[in-house]
Amino acid sequence: MRNTLKYVKDNSGRYVEELKDYLRIPSISTTKSHTKDVANCAKFVASKLKNAGMKKVEIIKTKGHPLVYAEWMGAENKPTVLVYGHYDVQPVDPLKLWKTPPFEPVIKSGKIWARGANDNKGQNFVHIKAVEALLKNDKKLPVNVKFLIEGEEEIGSPNLSQFLKTNRNKLKCDAVLISDTSLFAPNVPTINYGLRGLCYMEVELIGPNRDLHSGSFGGSVANPINELAKLIAKLQDKNGKVTIPNFYKNVVPLTKKERDNFKKLEFSDEKFAKELKVNQLQGEKGFSTLERLWARPTLDCNGIYGGFTEEGAKTVLPSKATAKMSMRLVPNQNPQTIAKEFTKYVKSIAPKSVKINVKALHGGLPCMVPLESDAIKAAARATTRAFGKETVFTREGGSIPIVVEFMNQLNAPAVLMGLGLDTDNIHSPNEHFSLASFQKGILSSIYFMEEFSK
Ligand code: BES
Ligand code: MN
Repeated sequence: MRNTLKYVKDNSGRYVEELKDYLRIPSISTTKSHTKDVANCAKFVASKLKNAGMKKVEIIKTKGHPLVYAEWMGAENKPTVLVYGHYDVQPVDPLKLWKTPPFEPVIKSGKIWARGANDNKGQNFVHIKAVEALLKNDKKLPVNVKFLIEGEEEIGSPNLSQFLKTNRNKLKCDAVLISDTSLFAPNVPTINYGLRGLCYMEVELIGPNRDLHSGSFGGSVANPINELAKLIAKLQDKNGKVTIPNFYKNVVPLTKKERDNFKKLEFSDEKFAKELKVNQLQGEKGFSTLERLWARPTLDCNGIYGGFTEEGAKTVLPSKATAKMSMRLVPNQNPQTIAKEFTKYVKSIAPKSVKINVKALHGGLPCMVPLESDAIKAAARATTRAFGKETVFTREGGSIPIVVEFMNQLNAPAVLMGLGLDTDNIHSPNEHFSLASFQKGILSSIYFMEEFSK
């Protein structure tokens, strides 16, 4: 073990250089013109797994972007850990807000800056490098390890569910280790035990058959943008409650115990607001910020377009308006049921003067991980050792829809060993990842394998 830790330290410069190579590949899964880059990124991951000493490294074709799989099964009578992560990244727009180009990683202020630095390349690379350090020094791992790194997480993992169902045996494991979430605060070792679900909708309102002069026609027909704005406004009441019928029907209320645990976490609304440069926070009445973020469902408009949006002014009464809206869900809400309720309700409140199309784009179930498993306990001991501090247990506001399917299909607990920070600008310009977290993440992974083998 001592050699392994020394190896991590001695090779930290090279590790960061290799992470930079990983980050130079623009593996944007949603954009067709990047398909080749995504495929190259899969090859990159496979080559790093091979160099680390993993066996049976495979690139598995799917209907979409490929999966990368690898295993090392030499720890007889020891548990098996499946490491899941994703090598695809989000688009980079708006490009002009990046201080340095998104696919030219730089190190500044102890952080690495690039698209994917946190989400998820930096976080999954940690586990590849942990395995490398163990295999180069001990020639073996304390547990059996499988890797499954996918290329379609950011588009809702459309092909992974099927793969899980048909490959239960191949993926058989005792715990699924995932670093794709956040530390509670810088340097605070954290295990997450909850993720919110998601229901993503698109609403289109159609008015007149063509764009019209707003002088010749304004006042005589419905303006789809005006009507869409009214419709969106009706989806929440003055207390921040979503008004869709039955929206809260299956929401599991927070227990007193969990509320108390949230309260014990050191969190300041003031600091939170200040960092975001807002004068005041806002959310559902009767709940604290952490409760709103982790344990309450929400509705947000993600984008709205229609009419004239270029520079200057153009007097036009647009023919169409569209909004993309998403709802974050909590146990036991179901994305399909919520999509139905949403569709029924928005159709019922849209005026007769416009046509309405409602589409469900994608969704995912919320997830709770039981805290009693050996895997979670081992993970908490591991992160405490790596960071030299007591581990905290938190829930997350974000979603990783495939996690529930892992737990159900493989009957193994998920270990959400978050290493990012909510301030790392994931999905946003100037994404970054702390090099200290990268380093401590590698140690956490090594210690986890050791602790879990006991
Ligand atoms: N890494 C995130 C999930 C996440 C976000 C965890 C914030 C913790 C905090 C993941 O890559 C992601 O972006 N998930 C999407 C899911 C969607 C594309 C189905 C999300 O949460 O929007
Ligand atoms: Mn993401």
